[in-house]
Amino acid sequence: MKTIQHDYKFVLLSLILFTFIFYSYEPDFGFLETIGEVLNIVAGEPINASFPITFYQSAYVDHRFDPPRLRIFTLNKCVKNSQFLLADLHLNGNSSESVRKNIYGKPLDGRCPSIYIPASSCLYVPYTFSISLKPNEDPKNVTIHLGSRKVELNVEKIYKKTTKGITVCLQPVYYYSQWQNIVLYIEAWRAQGATRFIVYYHSGTKETWKTLEYYRDLGLIEIKSWPSFPSLPVDIADKYPRIDDSVFILSYFMAMNICILDIKTTIGTVADFDEVLVPTNGRLLDYATKEMTDTKVGAISFENYYLSLTPTIYTSNFSGVASPKFQTYGKQTKYIFNASVLAIAQVHWPHSFVDSFFSWTRTKKANGALLHFRYEPGVGNLANTEKPFRFFPDDPSVHIKNMENTAHKIFNGVMPTFSSKAYDALQECVNKIIPVEDKVCRSTSGICREEMDKVEDWVYDKSEPIFLVAS
Ligand SMILES: *[C@@H]1O[C@H](CO)[C@@H](O)[C@H](O)[C@H]1NC(C)=O
Ligand SMILES: *[C@@H]1O[C@H](CO)[C@@H](O)[C@H](O)[C@H]1NC(C)=O
Ligand SMILES: *[C@@H]1O[C@H](CO)[C@@H](O)[C@H](O)[C@H]1NC(C)=O
Ligand SMILES: *[C@@H]1O[C@H](CO)[C@@H](O)[C@H](O)[C@H]1NC(C)=O
Ligand SMILES: *[C@@H]1O[C@H](CO)[C@@H](O)[C@H](O)[C@H]1NC(C)=O
Repeated sequence: MKTIQHDYKFVLLSLILFTFIFYSYEPDFGFLETIGEVLNIVAGEPINASFPITFYQSAYVDHRFDPPRLRIFTLNKCVKNSQFLLADLHLNGNSSESVRKNIYGKPLDGRCPSIYIPASSCLYVPYTFSISLKPNEDPKNVTIHLGSRKVELNVEKIYKKTTKGITVCLQPVYYYSQWQNIVLYIEAWRAQGATRFIVYYHSGTKETWKTLEYYRDLGLIEIKSWPSFPSLPVDIADKYPRIDDSVFILSYFMAMNICILDIKTTIGTVADFDEVLVPTNGRLLDYATKEMTDTKVGAISFENYYLSLTPTIYTSNFSGVASPKFQTYGKQTKYIFNASVLAIAQVHWPHSFVDSFFSWTRTKKANGALLHFRYEPGVGNLANTEKPFRFFPDDPSVHIKNMENTAHKIFNGVMPTFSSKAYDALQECVNKIIPVEDKVCRSTSGICREEMDKVEDWVYDKSEPIFLVAS
């Protein structure tokens, strides 16, 4: 009896411990999928061509995981636990040698449908399908079989990052008009140690595009296409909404997580064009390197301060940047991370790391701030307060001069005058979506296109397909 009771306690304790570990582990990759794979060996069913799904063109073999994982990024309707992708991994780049896998998926932000209200009514949710690879499995490309149809993906390899520096990822830029933000952003981030910028581009004004091209030609930013999404295969197209009309903000969650893989520097971050992370003292790169190297710290989180600049940078006078006025303090933190270990990013905090169950124990609060120079900072009357945070770790006047010279170069000395017309039109469109938030997905690029085309001659990305559907 005693031993039974003992066993019972042991089982109970194990169960609690298991639940705890399971729950804590939940944000991490491998474990859940392995369980999923085991449970579904018998009952699973392959996703076929009647299922609405589109694939990012590349699959990744992520060697930051041990063992390496094959990771596939998709946008699709919610998938049942028993559903998997039936894939052939071509080991020689041809079909002579291939291994067949059932690959299970998870929504990138953890839930499907999303629990984030503005995204919860979107049909298409960003997913990652992934599986760990055996040592002899080094696929060159992957064929996904969807019944009689298929999709071919090329494969890119990802390793731990060794080049010292910071890479800044930008979520898809769409209907963007505030080119002045970009000038301040690049100048400030560079002063903080950023060496590369990866910009996913959908649409912007001619001035925005010119500004991006200028920095691209200097070798600073890499512009990556983020076009409108493709139509579904013709035999199911009329059964579902168009992808463009039912995906939350251009699937920025997917762009952000693909960007992390493209980072080649030791440190990375995801920040919008009106956000710069700064430490209280010194340069961000030095601060972050010191805090993270040879420690358990995988990410450093910065509190958000909205601020105003006088004169406003939209007058193309950047002198206000030297003495920002701090306004509301917001909860939406942003973070920098060790790019060798971050597995999945959320917008405001890391979701999981490649080598750790407990992502929250690896995030540290920064001695610094997120400087958020939003066009419309907050609501109501904002008190201005003094804070020790500045855009530049050194003499700001040099940077102010640089920004003004840069603006002159970009526009050949003829400064475009700023108009808030485009900005206002987008706000108006978004606000129309919000009041019916439980019924309409905030799918800005699709829903707002017609109205945005009325106010501006946009430069759209027009690249060949980046997202693939079954054929
Ligand atoms: C495709 O999958 C659906 C759902 O799993 C299933 O009902 C249907 O029979 C399948 N179609 C074919 C042709 O296998
Ligand atoms: C496929 O790849 C293998 C190994 O590289 C090679 O020997 C074979 O000739 C290739 N087959 C075709 C049809 O290209
Ligand atoms: C794999 O990719 C290579 C290069 O794009 C291509 O030539 C080859 O046909 C592909 N093989 C398969 C089986 O898709
Ligand atoms: C990033 O993590 C790797 C692996 O844990 C570690 O070796 C490296 O020192 C870290 N780098 C930085 C800059 O934090
Ligand atoms: C920018 O604004 C400041 C402060 O209002 C003013 O002193 C300065 O002359 C302006 N610079 C230019 C180039 O207009």
